[in-house]
Amino acid sequence: MTTKWNANLYDQKHGFVSKFGGSLVDLLAPQKNEEILDVGCGTGDLAHEIAALGAKIQGIDASHDMIIAAQQKYPDITFHTMDATVLNMTNQFDAVFSNAALHWMKQPDDVIRNIYNVLKQGGRFVAEMGGHGNIASIVWALQKCMEELKLSYIEDYFPWYFPTLEEYQSKLEGAGFTVEMITLYERPTPLLGEDGLRNWLKMFSNNMLKHLSKTEKEQIDAKCEKLLQSKFYQNHQWVADYCRLRFVAIKK
Ligand code: BEZ
Repeated sequence: MTTKWNANLYDQKHGFVSKFGGSLVDLLAPQKNEEILDVGCGTGDLAHEIAALGAKIQGIDASHDMIIAAQQKYPDITFHTMDATVLNMTNQFDAVFSNAALHWMKQPDDVIRNIYNVLKQGGRFVAEMGGHGNIASIVWALQKCMEELKLSYIEDYFPWYFPTLEEYQSKLEGAGFTVEMITLYERPTPLLGEDGLRNWLKMFSNNMLKHLSKTEKEQIDAKCEKLLQSKFYQNHQWVADYCRLRFVAIKK
């Protein structure tokens, strides 16, 4: 399954700092000259932030469009189009960092094993991803609208993996990591503008709705807005029900 990204639209995304942990880069605490890999780097903003702190960062992303955009924005940083399920470097990095990317990787065992392998002994894996319950209301609304319109919902087209804390911790430990910290928390996330939900759906529901016509998709968008409005639209602001899984794991 592939997901086509629109790098420009993606770049209009906000940075939202949760009351739980401040920035993920602070949690990574990059040191000068440390070798760090950013997995699912998108258009490179956090890699740039990490580089500015003196670390030697490389970014990878499965989307070539994202990597092209990252290279244009930050020509001094090395970026590669690479899928984390086929990473084949070994014992190279002091840390692996990943923000809002691991939930797109539906083969978590391969990803975790590869990340373990690229780390040096004692290296750390610091990441945040969508966790169990993430965007549950949006997914519920999409399913309900499709049902009401008598359109088929195809389970295989669901593009994300939102694990429970226990499940992901067990996978990390199974691969040989020691989990130093792991937390699952709600992080209500503002979607910019009056059309925030519609824009979110346009960007992210593509895969789930790929068997439908443009008109059917527009009907779904309109119905979803109506269904979610009372709970998630206040003071001209849409807020999505994001849940984050954040952890620090060490390669033994
Ligand atoms: C997330 O960051 O949790 C997310 C973003 C887009 C689609 C699904 C989840």
